[in-house]
Formats: sequence, structure tokens, C-alpha cells
Amino acid sequence: MAEAWINKLYFGDNLDVLREHIPDASVDLIYLDPPFNSKATYNVLFAEKNGTESAAQITAFEDTWHWGLESEEAYHEVVTDGPAKLGDLLQALRMFLGPNDMMAYLTMMAIRLVELHRVLKLTGTIYLHCDPTASHYLKALMDGVFGHHNFQNDISWNRTVPKSHFRQGPTNWPRVHDCILHYRGCVCGVLQTKIYAEEALAPYAAHAIPPAANSYH
Ligand SMILES: C[S@@+](CC[C@H](N)C(=O)[O-])C[C@H]1O[C@@H](n2cnc3c(N)ncnc32)[C@H](O)[C@@H]1O
Repeated sequence: MAEAWINKLYFGDNLDVLREHIPDASVDLIYLDPPFNSKATYNVLFAEKNGTESAAQITAFEDTWHWGLESEEAYHEVVTDGPAKLGDLLQALRMFLGPNDMMAYLTMMAIRLVELHRVLKLTGTIYLHCDPTASHYLKALMDGVFGHHNFQNDISWNRTVPKSHFRQGPTNWPRVHDCILHYRGCVCGVLQTKIYAEEALAPYAAHAIPPAANSYH
């Protein structure tokens, strides 16, 4: 029997953690706050004993992506072994974008979204937090992985005191919102049939969309 646990925290690359530790169709809710491809470096700032900001800081993570061997390998894996529609989409994006920084970022996300789809229960829900830098591409990837019919909403998170609002000055409309893409697990559609056995799908048959209505796949 599986070990009972509450609030288990894994430290490491989430691709490895997902593959090594998280079983198929085992997760009810995923909230994903990944890098946004902001090209910024985020630091951890330390405070002095009196509470003032210290000059000491360490780099927490760099949100800058470059096409390289790792991207090439991930791209190849998704195109050859991933969901067919996602592979088609990734190839089309590569033709459109070329092997550039955005493509490196999207490939990094695509290979992880495939794993998230694998671990999400058919009745589960996933929220992907991003911003307009890449939300349009990410929504297409999510459609390719979870199915466009499972899209529920694109929630706008408006910032009340947005830093970028002040930084950019009066040169543009304020860039003041993040996007949260909300999808449900595949309770219908054809994507999941590649992954789940028929017996596993039987309880969800009542929710299935008839083939004619589902032909967009
Ligand atoms: C946008 S930040 C979100 C931070 C956190 N949600 C918060 O509010 O403080 C993205 C986070 O993803 C982490 N990250 C980036 N690539 C990762 C990976 N391959 N596996 C696990 N975490 C990763 C970064 O270190 C960073 O902490």
C-alpha cells in the first residue's frame, strides 16, 4: 500500500521529480507558477538584524532561456514520443519562431506539461500562472496537451501596485496583469486514450463528447 503522507515537499528539477516519484492519474489539483521567460534574474535579498535591506543577496533563479542541446533533446522527445497534436504544434512553432529563446522556453514547458497531464486525474484541475509574454503560446501548448475542450478560463490577475507600471513610465498602457490558464483533466476527448486503459476510462464514459462534436482534435 502507498505510504500515507501530507504536504510532501520535493526539492529538485520538477521534470525528474514528476518522472521518478509521481504516479499516473494521481493528482487532483495542480497550480503551476513557472518561470515566465521574463529574462530577469531573481535574487533572494537578506535583511539586516534591524530589518533594513542588506546588500547581501544570492541569485535565486535566472528566467532566461537559450536554445541549446537540452532544448534540442527535449524538442525531439516531445515531437517523437509526446501527444501527436503537441508534436505538430511544437514543429509549427519552431518553423514560426526558429530555435530562439522563446522556443527554448516553450520546449522546456512542453515536456513538463506532458508529465503534468500524465499525473493529473481525469477529474483533476490544472491552473497555469503566466503573463502576456508567453501566455498566447502557452495556451496553444495547453490545448495541445489537455485538449481545447478542457479549457475552462483565462483568469486575469490585476496588480494594484505594479512595478512595471512605474518602470516603463508614460510610454505605454500599463502592463498590470498576469494570466492564469485553467483547464480540467481529460474527462472527454481522444487525447487520454493513448495514456489510459479502457477500464480506467469506463467510469467517465458518461461525460464523453460524441465523436462529431469532438472532431477538432
Ligand atoms: C515565477 S517563480 C515562482 C516562485 C514562487 N511561486 C513564489 O511565488 O515565490 C518560478 C520558480 O520556478 C523554479 N524553477 C524553475 N525551473 C524549475 C525546474 N525545472 N524545477 C523546479 N523548479 C523550477 C524557480 O527556481 C522559481 O522559484
